[in-house]
Amino acid sequence: MGVIVCVGGQWGDEGKGKVVDLLAESARVVLRSQGGNNAGHTVVVDGRTFKFNLVPSGILHPETVCVIGNGVVLDPKVLLAEIAALEEAGADLRNLVISERAHMIMPYHPVLDRLEEAARGDDRLGTTYRGVGPAYSDKVRRIGFRVGDLQKLSFLEKKLNFVLPLKNDILVKLYEAPPFTKEEILAEYTEYASRLDRFIKDPYPLVQLAVAQGHRVILEGAQGTMLDLDLGTYPYVTSSYPSSGGALAGAGIGPRHVTATVGVFKAYTTRVGYGPFPTELEDELGEYLRERGAEYGTTTGRARRVGWFDGPVASYAVGVNGIDSIALTKLDVLDEMEVVRICTGYLSKGEAHDHPMANISHLKHLEPVYEELPGWGCSTREARSFADLPELAQRYVARIEEVAGACVDLISVVAVSLKKKWRRQAW
Ligand code: IMP
Repeated sequence: MGVIVCVGGQWGDEGKGKVVDLLAESARVVLRSQGGNNAGHTVVVDGRTFKFNLVPSGILHPETVCVIGNGVVLDPKVLLAEIAALEEAGADLRNLVISERAHMIMPYHPVLDRLEEAARGDDRLGTTYRGVGPAYSDKVRRIGFRVGDLQKLSFLEKKLNFVLPLKNDILVKLYEAPPFTKEEILAEYTEYASRLDRFIKDPYPLVQLAVAQGHRVILEGAQGTMLDLDLGTYPYVTSSYPSSGGALAGAGIGPRHVTATVGVFKAYTTRVGYGPFPTELEDELGEYLRERGAEYGTTTGRARRVGWFDGPVASYAVGVNGIDSIALTKLDVLDEMEVVRICTGYLSKGEAHDHPMANISHLKHLEPVYEELPGWGCSTREARSFADLPELAQRYVARIEEVAGACVDLISVVAVSLKKKWRRQAW
């Protein structure tokens, strides 16, 4: 058993929700470690559709405690709408815990997100406009509002007296936007306080107990390694740490308890928003893969950029996260390809590189080096074991293992996940 860290190995949208769902079956705790309602996924159980932005989808298992962890920033309005929709769809939310240490998105954060993006002009990042970056900035400046503040409204009001003038100054003087009043924010957040109170707790005792008793605890990362504030394609990143180190910090669990670090990768690559993407396909093939893979954002509906599997990104993600097991998703999207390509390195001004470099302008002008493999040319959608896959698909998976430097232990096709082999019994 023990702690399983589940992280995205690319630029997010790798299908972590599906993998966590599978692992959650025997988990005591599923904890969302970072990010905000910039992430999202959908789970269909017995014909019922459940949409998730912040609540870990483990909530559909009655014995599993689901924690929105310390490292998350949440918009109470969005969370309440999500809770209402889940309850309406038949989910039981008694086992949901929201950490009092998680930060809140305040009404001025999405407004500032939009204004700051507009001010960047051509250099805009393509954020989700959910206010995630501005909320994390305030957390770092120590002027953020935490979920626990909802249980001490006089403290929240006192802090607003100090913080709101700072925010209104920027809104009015810099952007000529309308200011917020303390009264409207207080009224709104007082209402949220009464509706969220039943979920707010310190998760420390229950998480530590589950770890000490050797139960399965899953840390569900949001976004992906290449969007990590320190490790990703800065500044084209999100404002949190989607890597395994970030997951542990956001959860409050030490590294010695981790028994497996699972990296989730798509069988190809996608990215939403701006920034370098060395293996991007901007042609008809990219268009085809986008349609076949239904590559449109769950949260914003934006079309995702699509490209070949990027080996240097994968081996980098394996290295920086300590990934010892890969879950490979959406393999069947490649079913009809005559040839499939894997990027095995980059060339920059004639010089070879084996991992994504920090310098964004270098990264933007790389030439990917591709290896071409024959496509398998038949459907893998009905495969339920590794042996069911055509030999050429098995060969593609094996090459990904070699290039990434970790074992592919789980493969998924559109609707189902299939176990190839569980290398660790602890899983
Ligand atoms: P932000 O997190 O809204 O500030 O957006 C910063 C960057 O991260 C943008 O490129 C977004 O498209 C990207 N991003 C944020 N959340 C996700 C996600 O869940 N999946 C994929 N990309 C994301």
